[in-house]
Amino acid sequence: MCGIVCYVGSKPAKPILLKGLKQLEYRGYDSSGFAIQNGDQIECHRAAGKIAELEKKLNGLDIKGSMGIAHTRWATHGEPTEENAHPHRDNDENVFVIHNGIIENFYALKKRLEKDGVVFRSETDTEVLAHLISLNFDGSLSEAVRKTMSQVEGTFGMAVINRRSPGEIVIARRGSPLIIGVSEDGHFAASDVAAMVRYTNKVVHLQDNELATLTREDFSMSTAQAKPVERSAETVEWRAEDTELNGFPHYMLKEIYEQPETIKNAMRGRLETGEGVPKLGGIMPVWDRLKECRHMVIVACGTSYYAGCVGRYIFEKLTEIDVDVELASEFRYRKLNFAPNTFVIAISQSGETADTLAAIREAKRKGASLLGIVNVVGSSISRETEAGVYNHAGPEIGVASTKIFTSQLTILVLLAILLGRHQNLSLTEGVEVIHALEALSDQVGTVLSQANHIEAIAEKYFNYNNWLFLGRKYNYPIAMEGALKLKEISYIHAEGYPAGEMKHGPIALISPEMPTVAIVPRDEMYEKMISNIQEVKSRRGPVIAITTLGDDRIKEIADDVIEIPPTLSFLNPILAAVACQLLSYYCANFLNRDIDMPRNLAKSVTVE
Ligand code: M6R
Repeated sequence: MCGIVCYVGSKPAKPILLKGLKQLEYRGYDSSGFAIQNGDQIECHRAAGKIAELEKKLNGLDIKGSMGIAHTRWATHGEPTEENAHPHRDNDENVFVIHNGIIENFYALKKRLEKDGVVFRSETDTEVLAHLISLNFDGSLSEAVRKTMSQVEGTFGMAVINRRSPGEIVIARRGSPLIIGVSEDGHFAASDVAAMVRYTNKVVHLQDNELATLTREDFSMSTAQAKPVERSAETVEWRAEDTELNGFPHYMLKEIYEQPETIKNAMRGRLETGEGVPKLGGIMPVWDRLKECRHMVIVACGTSYYAGCVGRYIFEKLTEIDVDVELASEFRYRKLNFAPNTFVIAISQSGETADTLAAIREAKRKGASLLGIVNVVGSSISRETEAGVYNHAGPEIGVASTKIFTSQLTILVLLAILLGRHQNLSLTEGVEVIHALEALSDQVGTVLSQANHIEAIAEKYFNYNNWLFLGRKYNYPIAMEGALKLKEISYIHAEGYPAGEMKHGPIALISPEMPTVAIVPRDEMYEKMISNIQEVKSRRGPVIAITTLGDDRIKEIADDVIEIPPTLSFLNPILAAVACQLLSYYCANFLNRDIDMPRNLAKSVTVE
């Protein structure tokens, strides 16, 4: 999705903005641009395609100025051309605007402005903002933006500069994140901490219907109704090196390899082994209600949804709570009727997914209590939920979610043990699960140590165009997640199925041309999975089995085997997921795909 980075300070703006844009690349984009102001002069450059295209245009240009706004665009209204790239400007080229989100009443506004003689140069909804702000300008840029906020409907995170207001950048937010960065060399604004973390880790979150004016020395915030806002800066724990490749060819591979650490981080300071109970400080504000809860609904999208699907089985195993899992994008269309004291848990890496945000807002309207499992501290979902648990996994840059998925699963286990221990889970059982969790990080390391073997399997199969992933119970969601991983980064068509459903349809697809990845650890589903694998084999379908270390029986049936260490059955998904991630990664690598930025995808999906 679109990204914003802005700077006003004492240093040259161009390198800061270009570096910031590169840090935003992972969000997904198809054009980029910036505008740099020097006194009453503004220089604007834009290009379709990658940031490298923008850099080509700048070759040899000496762009002076220590303030500017920059943008990566992910096309919604109009094709990804230079004309549609941001910044957009008014007809007199005074006002330059970058914008994330969608202006829903742009068509009516555009028609009205055209009647008044305004000439539009792009197909974007954003351009109306530039014209409106220019028309509303009466000496104060922030007042012009405030008035414009009252005229537009929809969502925006925007940043504006004006030839007639040198030295200031005005930013405004409704539904699309914006963060202010505070440093000794000036002030930053960005849609994402990653764009400025190399310069500062002191941030202030702008909230919906607020605007801010940034200057080199200071910043001030107010509401759309002109009420001053005071909010102190927070320190973010992300470090600049977290956003670097550190020798890995891709962020996805780096993040796969970070999992022994991110799994530990999800548990760090949270385990009371002897008591068999985790401590989760973030949920204490709602603990009295939560411990009585008997119905939960998990809402999420994509990979986070699959984490929720595993979570349902885990809660059913360890607690007395009934759990529903809903795709956030469909949740609002349901007739919601919550039992008293229902908790809705939103799971989201970014904390900004528009569908998940909309789902929790609807749940709140209908009286549910809200919890979040979120990686990005201070993100919209973390603020709009009453309580929750952070992943503390550092930035995830690769578009394909990997380390956050296993971190989400770890946190779901912690939450289930905590609630279970206040219900029917015994001390012995609690201690047993915690011991198994403590062993997980090393066990993930064991799966990672088979990377060469998994790469060799990928080399054998990457040219197959259709794949099937099968699993049962805890590993059924891993089959879906494995298929999602493969399709999103390699563009190979893959289906994830509960193995029991195969005979109800997908079995028609089985042939020597279609590999099946069977997730078949030694658990209570093992024998049934073996029968499903036999069904595939009798139709001459190649089988890659992910199974428990030392399982010789499966080696006689499957064509290829990836072994995972033995653990409790509901922790197998974490180990199996890592094997699936490596398999997808290597297939995509053999196919020379753009692994960290797969086509059409965005890291943070902030439109519905
Ligand atoms: O930031 P979120 O966890 O809310 O994102 C949800 C999905 O958009 C995300 O998991 C997506 O499916 C990834 N591309 C999966 O790899």
